[in-house]
This record gives sequence, structure tokens and C-alpha cells, in this order.
Amino acid sequence: MSDPGRQRVTFTVNGEDRDAWVFPHDSLLDVLRDALGHHEVRYGCGEGVCGTCTVLLDGEPVSGCLLLAVQADGCSIVTVRGLAPGGDLHPLQACFLRNGAAQCGFCTPGMLLTAWALLQRDPRPSRERIRRELVGNLCRCTGYSKILDAVEEHAAQAAEGSGEPRRGAPVGREGSGEGTGGDA
Ligand code: FES
Ligand code: FES
Repeated sequence: MSDPGRQRVTFTVNGEDRDAWVFPHDSLLDVLRDALGHHEVRYGCGEGVCGTCTVLLDGEPVSGCLLLAVQADGCSIVTVRGLAPGGDLHPLQACFLRNGAAQCGFCTPGMLLTAWALLQRDPRPSRERIRRELVGNLCRCTGYSKILDAVEEHAAQAAEGSGEPRRGAPVGREGSGEGTGGDA
């Protein structure tokens, strides 16, 4: 319903059409979590420092706490749930699990989405490049080496054709084009 001072924004989240009435100063993170119930998008610092709130905006990782919801109007958003439409783990997530890289529920969603976006641009990144790309996704406790191992393993599997990199790709316009699964 319309509300003075608010405006309607529409976008897709994990391939599903969503809309919300937002104030001009509302962050995308707050709208995703509070208005649309996407609590899998985590709140960390709220200041653009930790990468915890990373989502894909038209395929690119962004910090939802720094983006205004109105800036996402008309865009495709993918959260970590979009990596596993229907509940089947994306091969990248499976690599995280195998390598012990699925650490806490705060840093892992952002790490996964940033890594996924990197692998779209560079299917076989060096360990150094993976490290550089993930520099904005902070872990305060466990460390990074298992995460680097997991991303490397998924890249190697995809190069060998065993990782099926497109299967389970995030839903939405920039994804596989299958557009299924929605907010599963
Ligand atoms: S919560 Fe957005 S960068 Fe930390
Ligand atoms: S912040 Fe998630 S494991 Fe360190």
C-alpha cells in the first residue's frame, strides 16, 4: 500500500518478482531482511566494511548495507538461497562443505556469492586472485585458507567438466536463464 514519503520499488529476488514500499534512505539490506524476509542476507557492520551483507545485483556482488533499495529498482538480486534453488547445493557450496570452508553463518553467504561472481569472470583464477577478490569479505575468527581451497577445487572441477558450473547457477536474469526455484 502507498505510504507518504515512500516509493514502490520492484525487483526480482532469486528469480521471484518482489516489490516493496521504501523510504529513500532505506538500504537494500534492510528491505531484503525486514520487508521481504530474506534473513539469509546477514547484517554485520552496516558500514560497508565486512562483506557479510553481500548479494548479487545483476550478477555483481554488492554490499546491501551500502546500497539504497531505490538503487536496486528494476534489478535482479540473488541471495545465497539463490545458489541452491530447490535446496540442491550448488557445486561451489559442496566444495565449501568438503573443505571445511563453510564456517559461520555470517561470513559464508557473502564469501560464496563473491566467489561465484569471480568464477563467472575468471573460471580458473589463481589462488592470489581468489584471495584478492575475497578481500572485502571478512572473517573474524577461523581464517581463509579453507575458503581458498574450496574455490580452487570448484574451479578445477569445472575445468575438468565434473563441476557442472552452470547447474544450480543463481536464478534470475543473469543466471542460467532457467528462472526456477525462486526463494527456496
Ligand atoms: S554489513 Fe554490509 S559490509 Fe558489513
Ligand atoms: S566470521 Fe564467519 S567464520 Fe569467521
